Amino acid sequence: MITTIKTLSQLIADGQVAGKRVLIRSDMNVPMAGGAITEDTRIRASLEAIRMALDAGAAVMVMSHLGRPKEGEIMPRDTLTPIAERVSELLGISVPLQRDWIEGVDIAPGQIVLLENCRCNVGEKANDETLARKMAALCDIYVNDAFGAAHRAQASTEGVARYAPIACAGPLLEAELNALSRTLTDPARPLVAIVGGAKVSTKLSILLALAGKVDQLIVGGGIANTFMLAKGLKVGKSLVEEGQLEEARQVIALMKERGAEVPIPVDVVCAKSFATDAEPTVKAATDVEEDDLILDIGPETAQQLAGILRKAGTIVWNGPVGVFEFPNFAGGTRVLAQAIADSDAFSIAGGGDTLAAIAAFDVADKIGYISTGGGAFLEFLEGKSLPAVAVLQERAAE
Ligand code: 3PG
Repeated sequence: MITTIKTLSQLIADGQVAGKRVLIRSDMNVPMAGGAITEDTRIRASLEAIRMALDAGAAVMVMSHLGRPKEGEIMPRDTLTPIAERVSELLGISVPLQRDWIEGVDIAPGQIVLLENCRCNVGEKANDETLARKMAALCDIYVNDAFGAAHRAQASTEGVARYAPIACAGPLLEAELNALSRTLTDPARPLVAIVGGAKVSTKLSILLALAGKVDQLIVGGGIANTFMLAKGLKVGKSLVEEGQLEEARQVIALMKERGAEVPIPVDVVCAKSFATDAEPTVKAATDVEEDDLILDIGPETAQQLAGILRKAGTIVWNGPVGVFEFPNFAGGTRVLAQAIADSDAFSIAGGGDTLAAIAAFDVADKIGYISTGGGAFLEFLEGKSLPAVAVLQERAAE
């Protein structure tokens, strides 16, 4: 897919960037608490494009969203001030923040400016053409490096790419698309996916899309409970969606038709209440009682699944298999995280909970590729076209 998109690295190699005004759309939408950044992976991941453009002699304007602000005003929680400070620290140069920028940015080659939260502009979310044209008029080259926002058709992600003189992908967007395409288009087999999370209904399209591709589909969390119930097992008071049993059976049937399977837990870790200090009890999957809550897969299931992961050629990981935030119920997710880390398979992981689990079990450097995307990662897995990527493909075909 990526071959059909112009990239910043190609433009630099062709000598097209020196002295040019380059507008980079990054996704620096990082978690904040009390006005401070609590986790800066997305900022760090955005630096390569910025450094490349600066080193190539461009005048660099960087825009990002933060949160979901109301358009037309900039509340204190919306400002990118802490982000400008962090980018300055990481780059080792002062990166000023420009509050009003849509009517023009005064900048020379070799300089950089961060533009205030692009979602505060009226018309951003609706992908307003006038706003998109104004953004495009700021630059000679528009670089989309915001994979995390690539599933949004907004003025700063989609509209601007239509009207900028040149539109291309930055290195992060390029890397994300390459890693994800490689995983799903021509994967080394067996291809194993882990899909955890609370609800089948919110992940059904992903489960169905993956059911047509993967050799093993490991389900976790509330999703696994629904699959257990669909297979006739009792799940007590566990998080479950009784309205999705047919859908779960459909996924199992689709997999079976292809000679693939959804492994159903043989044992589980239960508690009588949902609490960090709740007493954990390991039970056979057939022994779950009326008042039990399943909070993790059991040790035998974890070992079985770890065996599958060790033999995998490719692993896609989205979602923990238990309530790993509670130490008593973290065992299943820990064993799987370690098995992925130990496996020779190319692994790709994404989504907020998954990244938290990777950090908790300290396996980040053993994962083949960790996506910065949340919703964008999921939509890619669903096989949906990402609007911000589609427009770059259209522009490259001109
Ligand atoms: C994300 O956090 O997934 C991206 O930054 C997109 O944010 P959004 O869901 O508010 O569009």
